[in-house]
Formats: sequence, C-alpha cells, structure tokens
Amino acid sequence: MAAYLGVDYEDPEVLDDALENVDVVINLLGMYPRSWISLGDAAYRCGAKLYIPSEFGPDHRMFTFPSPLSVKQEQSQRSREDGIKTVQIFCGMLMDYVIPSGSWFGVDLPNRHIDAVVPGGGRAEPKISFTSIGDVAMAIASVARRRPSTLPDVIHIAGDTCTLRQLGEHWQTITRSRVHIATTDLASFRQGVLERGSSNLALYYRLAAGEGLLNYGSSNANSWLSTGVQWQWKSIQQQIAGN
Ligand SMILES: NC(=O)c1ccc[n+]([C@@H]2O[C@H](COP(=O)([O-])OP(=O)(O)OC[C@H]3O[C@@H](n4cnc5c(N)ncnc54)[C@H](OP(=O)(O)O)[C@@H]3O)[C@@H](O)[C@H]2O)c1
Repeated sequence: MAAYLGVDYEDPEVLDDALENVDVVINLLGMYPRSWISLGDAAYRCGAKLYIPSEFGPDHRMFTFPSPLSVKQEQSQRSREDGIKTVQIFCGMLMDYVIPSGSWFGVDLPNRHIDAVVPGGGRAEPKISFTSIGDVAMAIASVARRRPSTLPDVIHIAGDTCTLRQLGEHWQTITRSRVHIATTDLASFRQGVLERGSSNLALYYRLAAGEGLLNYGSSNANSWLSTGVQWQWKSIQQQIAGN
C-alpha cells in the first residue's frame, strides 16, 4: 500500500512523523542537498536500516576533475557515519532523459544531430552506459528487499552501453533517417568547462563521458540484481523504438 505524504524538509518533527516505522529510506529528490541531509538525518532518527541516497547518475567519485556533483557524496558519508547501511546506485545516463532529445548531453535525435565529446589522437570513442528509469526502479526494489548487511556500499548498473556514434547508428537503423554526428575534442572541452567553473551539471556529464568515466558496461551488478526476477534490462534500441 502506498501513501503520499507532503512534508516540509526544514521541519524535523514533520519528517520524523512521516518516517515512523520505516525501514528503508529511498531518496529520489532532485538536486536539493540541504533536503538530502535533512532526510538522511531523519532516516537515522527513525531507526531506518537502509538508506539509498539521491544518486542515479554518473559515479562522481571517479571524476578526475572538480564538479558540482561531488556535493552528492556528503549525504552518504553522513548517513554512514550515523551507522545506517547506505547504498549508492550509479546508472550512468538515464536513457529516458537523453533519447530522443537530451540536447544538454549533446544528443538531439529529432533534429538528427549528435555532438560527442571524444579524445583526440585516434583514441577510441568512449562508451557510455544508459539505463532506463524503469530499470533504476527495479534495481532500487531489488536492493531494498535484501538484508542490509549483505549489501555493498556502491552498485553500478548499466541498462545498455555504447558510444554516441553507435547510438546514432541505432537511431538511423530504426527510424531510417540520417543523423549527423559531430565530435568535440575532449582536451579543449575539458579546458573550457574547468576554466569557466560552470554550475551546469550537463557539462560535467559530457566531460565525464568524454573521459570514458560513464562506462559501466563490463563491471556492474546487473545480473546479481535481476537474478530470479522476470526482468529484462531495457536496451537503447527498445528506448528508440518506444518499446
Ligand atoms: N543520470 C541522469 O541522466 C539523471 C538525469 C536527471 C536526474 N538524475 C538524478 O536523479 C535524481 C532525481 O532527479 P530528478 O530530475 O527526478 O529531480 P527533480 O525532478 O528536480 O525533483 C524530484 C522531486 O524533488 C522534490 N523537490 C522539489 N523541490 C524540492 C526541495 N526544495 N527540497 C526537497 N525536495 C524537493 C519534488 O518532489 P515532490 O513533487 O514530492 O514535491 C520533485 O518532484 C537526482 O539525484 C538527479 O541527479 C539523473
């Protein structure tokens, strides 16, 4: 049974009432770091056994550059210090947000255009992991039903993994329309982003993608999470085809 409760994240009493008898706290809030901390603190006060912080994106712990995403680490650090089992789930890019038009990420398929940040010097184009929101939800459910003591601190998942060029080729095959694939040099992109010190998260997503830091294709918890469940991870082709 689900109940929808409105809460004020600035009011600990209201939060405590809302979380009474709750064992698992799943934080799905957007980029509201103060509210993340309030929710984590309330999870501790109510005696929750498991806290899943608001992540569901790139593993910012691996970034080789400063980024506004690093603020996400604080919620996990704090709840671990409080002694609550805390599991960070990293999924790369949400395919529902990028396909067909995550133009902020350089993908604009309705306008038949992709701009990929790629390293120079003939190095291979980086692969990027994309996961559907439905699969993130399934992964959360799979984590939440297990005994907290059996869980790792960090889980990577990857619905499907490919280069942006391959993503464009999938689109071409499925829709029979051509896509123009442009590339932006990683070194100059990196310099531009870091010199500007922008707060635009998308720039850091693209930079991490260009550096190959969003590829969870070969090392992830997919099969562990979906074992024993009738669950097929959604592919990029299925997302493009609207299935
Ligand atoms: N990997 C990716 O491609 C990707 C893309 C987008 C987001 N994400 C991540 O997914 C997570 C959720 O992001 P989202 O885009 O779903 O977030 P969002 O749409 O910005 O916000 C989600 C919910 O946060 C609540 N909220 C709004 N203002 C708030 C405030 N001041 N304090 C506390 N809560 C507030 C609202 O809940 P109510 O409606 O109940 O008030 C809102 O529906 C984030 O960690 C984000 O970084 C990842």
